[in-house]
Amino acid sequence: MAKTKTIFVCNACGYETSGWMGRCPSCQAWNTLIEENMKSSAPASSMPSKRQSWVSQNETVPLSDVSVEEDPRYTSGLRELDRVLGGGFVTGSLVLVGGDPGIGKSTLLLQVSHLAKTKGQVLYVSGEESRTQIRMRATRLSIETNHITLCTQTSFEEVSQTITSLRPSLCIIDSIQTLYSEELSSAPGSVSQVREVTAGLLRLAKNLLITIVLVGHVTKDGALAGPRVLEHMVDTVLYFEGENSSPFRMIRAVKNRFGATGELAFFEMTDVGLLEVENASTLLLSGRPIQVPGSVVTSCMEGTRPILVEIQALLNPSSYSVPQRMAQGLDRSRIGMLLAVLEKKFAVGVNNMDAYINVVGGLKITETACDLAILAAVFSALKDRPIRPNTLVLGEVGLTGEIRPIADIERRLIEAGRLGFTSCILPGSNKSGLARIQKRKPGSPSLTDLTDSGPVLPELIFADTLSEAMDVLFMDAPTQGSIKKGGRS
Ligand code: TYD
Ligand code: MG
Repeated sequence: MAKTKTIFVCNACGYETSGWMGRCPSCQAWNTLIEENMKSSAPASSMPSKRQSWVSQNETVPLSDVSVEEDPRYTSGLRELDRVLGGGFVTGSLVLVGGDPGIGKSTLLLQVSHLAKTKGQVLYVSGEESRTQIRMRATRLSIETNHITLCTQTSFEEVSQTITSLRPSLCIIDSIQTLYSEELSSAPGSVSQVREVTAGLLRLAKNLLITIVLVGHVTKDGALAGPRVLEHMVDTVLYFEGENSSPFRMIRAVKNRFGATGELAFFEMTDVGLLEVENASTLLLSGRPIQVPGSVVTSCMEGTRPILVEIQALLNPSSYSVPQRMAQGLDRSRIGMLLAVLEKKFAVGVNNMDAYINVVGGLKITETACDLAILAAVFSALKDRPIRPNTLVLGEVGLTGEIRPIADIERRLIEAGRLGFTSCILPGSNKSGLARIQKRKPGSPSLTDLTDSGPVLPELIFADTLSEAMDVLFMDAPTQGSIKKGGRS
């Protein structure tokens, strides 16, 4: 009889040890070691020598002799999703889709099973829902097709057999945490099970050239449940973002072996499933309060696309000894730093105020180009005065209160013009860069070329310091209709 061995596996990095420790000696994470029982006859997952190679081609070949399939990609049927994937699904790739419960992972993948332009069958393996439930969802999404095969097994060995005999082009696994390998005695969803099953699926994907899409659960703090090695093993990791309460859903590629990361796909959850949103800025700004204190619009780059978002701030006298700093969609430590700069420059008393700062629509911003907009929203809330009307605010703020240059200014300005913004506050140090772009001729497109037939550019107002920017933002509104094309210095 196989003996059972107890091991402790780190949830973050996959490190294994025989005794419990409070801190993982490998990745230094606290409280991540989880107890697991393994049959000693099972292949020890930590011993690579006993493992089958993920790809069965063992002989060596010169790189130039490796033939590349004509078109190894196919469309997922959703243009937004194709963009984050880098141009569609790649045959033989393993894609991991993570996200909060109820955000729409199963909905998206059922839609993709129907819409993807695959050469063969689609296999939908669900360990979470019954066949009837999936059929009901399909009916709701108006999916009537016979090229989707359902499988509700949870044993990896059986799923593997089904895949080998059916040879689908696309296989969806919903979810990786429900599959278990009979060779391991630990519970489904445990670190070693997830790792073993993913390794098995990776072998199938590479050997049979099947695109396998895995759904991964996330833990309370937003990380994918299971070891970090899961993310290392797969080719592409996509994360759902957005709030359950809002209909917007965003999908971001955090790892992609076949394309750029940082691209963001926008969807809207409707009663007929997820619909693509091509004009994200318009949607994010719809219903925005106009000329209200504490609301500022800025532009952040999501991959190659500029997205206009509204930042809202609310400040209240604090009743705590340490004032609260709440930030949604923004980095809290960055907020702390920016508020310190504001206090130093204007002595407005934010140190005794609770500050709540929110990016509307559930978007997460990591770009420093939104610093000035955050401070403008805070200042506007503090003074209870709206900012200059119809103005986009751009710029990174340094510790001495200087406004630092930002990247991709042209694309942001064109998008702002398209959405009808009439003026834009931007870093003074971006002026020379913009002038260079205007002169960059012949051949290459410049800002003026792009806008000749396109939208009217907003009036450009350059600011070098925080004080200058605030002066312009809170000065009395200019008369409407004085829209200038080009710059003002
Ligand atoms: P689901 O795809 O089951 O989420 P996940 O697999 O990520 O847990 O999505 C469930 C939510 O989506 C559910 O709360 C209802 C909503 N929904 C719609 O609004 N419209 C639809 O057409 C469908 C199928 C789901
Ligand atoms: Mg689901």
